[in-house]
Amino acid sequence: MCGIVGYLGFQDPKKIIIDGLKKLEYRGYDSAGIAILNDGKTKRVRAAGKIINLEEKLINENFNGHIGIGHTRWATHGAPNEKNAHPHQVGAISLVHNGIIENYLEIKKDLIARGAEIKSDTDSELVAHLVNEEIQVTNNLLLAVQKTLGKLIGAFSIVVMWEKSPNELVAFKDGPPLIVGVGEKENFIVSDVQAALQYTKNFVYLEDREIVHIHNNDLKYYSALGAPLKKQITTVDWNTEQVEKMGFKHYMLKEIYEQPRAVAAAIRPHINTELHSVQMESLGFAKSNSETFKTIDRIMFVACGTSFYAAMLGKYLIEQASGLPVEIDVASEFRYRKPIIPKNTLLITISQSGETADTLAAIRLAKEKGALTLSITNVQRSSIDREAHGHLYMNSGVEIGVASTKAFTSTIALLNVLALQIAKDRGAMTPEQEKNYVVQLLATPSQIEGVLAYDKYFSEAAKKLQTFKGFLYLGRGVSYPIALEGALKLKELAYMHAEGYAAGEMKHGPLALIDASMAIVVVAPTDDLIEKTISNLQEAKARGGKIISIGTGDNKALQSMSEYYLSIPASSWMAHPLISVVPLQLMSYHLADSLGYDVDQPRNLAKSVTVE
Ligand code: M6R
Repeated sequence: MCGIVGYLGFQDPKKIIIDGLKKLEYRGYDSAGIAILNDGKTKRVRAAGKIINLEEKLINENFNGHIGIGHTRWATHGAPNEKNAHPHQVGAISLVHNGIIENYLEIKKDLIARGAEIKSDTDSELVAHLVNEEIQVTNNLLLAVQKTLGKLIGAFSIVVMWEKSPNELVAFKDGPPLIVGVGEKENFIVSDVQAALQYTKNFVYLEDREIVHIHNNDLKYYSALGAPLKKQITTVDWNTEQVEKMGFKHYMLKEIYEQPRAVAAAIRPHINTELHSVQMESLGFAKSNSETFKTIDRIMFVACGTSFYAAMLGKYLIEQASGLPVEIDVASEFRYRKPIIPKNTLLITISQSGETADTLAAIRLAKEKGALTLSITNVQRSSIDREAHGHLYMNSGVEIGVASTKAFTSTIALLNVLALQIAKDRGAMTPEQEKNYVVQLLATPSQIEGVLAYDKYFSEAAKKLQTFKGFLYLGRGVSYPIALEGALKLKELAYMHAEGYAAGEMKHGPLALIDASMAIVVVAPTDDLIEKTISNLQEAKARGGKIISIGTGDNKALQSMSEYYLSIPASSWMAHPLISVVPLQLMSYHLADSLGYDVDQPRNLAKSVTVE
């Protein structure tokens, strides 16, 4: 949460910082601000709301200079207004901050006792006060920041600029990401490489409790305690095209349409397409993949949000394909329930961003308790990826829409491969079964394309769906996590009440909600559970509920009871969720868009949740 851009170089800092902040707006859009240093004076402009509001304020502002910092905020402490927007300025110090200062109340009390005038409700401003106090003593920005760090408790990253020294920036990371973009006679400090990708492909990833001191063209790295560090430059090969909308109305729609390619890219490194067999690339464990999979006794998945629903699916896939027990946890619960992690456990985290604070804490705890860990991430070299013993990549390309779509389907595709590989290595699957599953998995990209052809149908139906008071999403087996994911997409995009349920649970409570104003969205492929699901739907229909169903083939029974029936291609039980989630994504997208909501940046949310 919160996006940071710092710049020191020869170009116009205003342009670079605003362009960079726009790429980071997915991280928070409650307020934005910029501070640029010129001729010994800092000029600061801030605005509540999105970056566009800041840009409007900047139209008539001229900035000179070559150094500046900017910020886009996701509010934690203090309302999302201009007063609380970053950069914060105290004396000659300007500061941007991402994360949480846990001991802020104590710091605030002490600062007030020392006569400080506190202007905002944020924890961030207090850090600027502390640096300002230290700099009076040290007259040295690097030292002042180092001394301040010892007074702060929490998970946070900061970038600091000092009016009296116009050629230096000091940044510190402990928790939320900070990455140095290394250019030719210019340097950047950003929350995500996307913010500087159009200027450089060379980046240095700060680890926790590391400082970077940018002085003219010189970059020096230190530990929080001041010990010099050597850091490696990583060259990133994403191109900037991937972060443009490419003619789509929203990033989310573009990302929904990218799914056939994203799914293919996820599985490509792990499948032999000639033999139709799984051959997972080395995951990077000390032992080979197959030795690892033979010796583990259980798998535990930990994740949040959509990634958690992918983990739920992982349980169905791995347990049923290989017989290996699988547990799943929401990351925010995991570490506080004091989990028991038996010997020979493989703990798998799923995170698109690789930065989700709870998931990161979970993998660290699991390592402390001796578990072998595997991360499934989209963003390579992200904090979670760097923490894990083994690594699997979604290969989805940059996902910008706050609502996750292609990262989810890429993950399900990877979980299919993982489940098949584990089953194969543990002797739980015949070569014929393997071939059959692989053939069906390889067909899913073109089957998803077939579903995307129904897009018009959803955009036309969207207006009619607005009239429903609420939505119940139902599914059984692997379609149950898909129902949960469908409900989450509708909640976060269309701000409508939606719940996901296992179809068999309806009669244990939710049935009481059903009347003619309630839509029941059911994912019901023709499988060995279809009859049971149809019985559940009869119960809902008898109480006036209106049914929207996603089925396979020409399912007459399902069709006759539904207001809307969409037939999608059939597949193996393992791969089918990859296809069945797509209509639910399209439905939520069009419903939210028809209501005029901001699909790419739903209210109150952020793409990367780096606070607990
Ligand atoms: O980056 P992560 O996969 O760790 O993010 C987890 C959740 O915050 C994320 O999936 C969230 O639920 C999405 N907004 C769902 O669309």
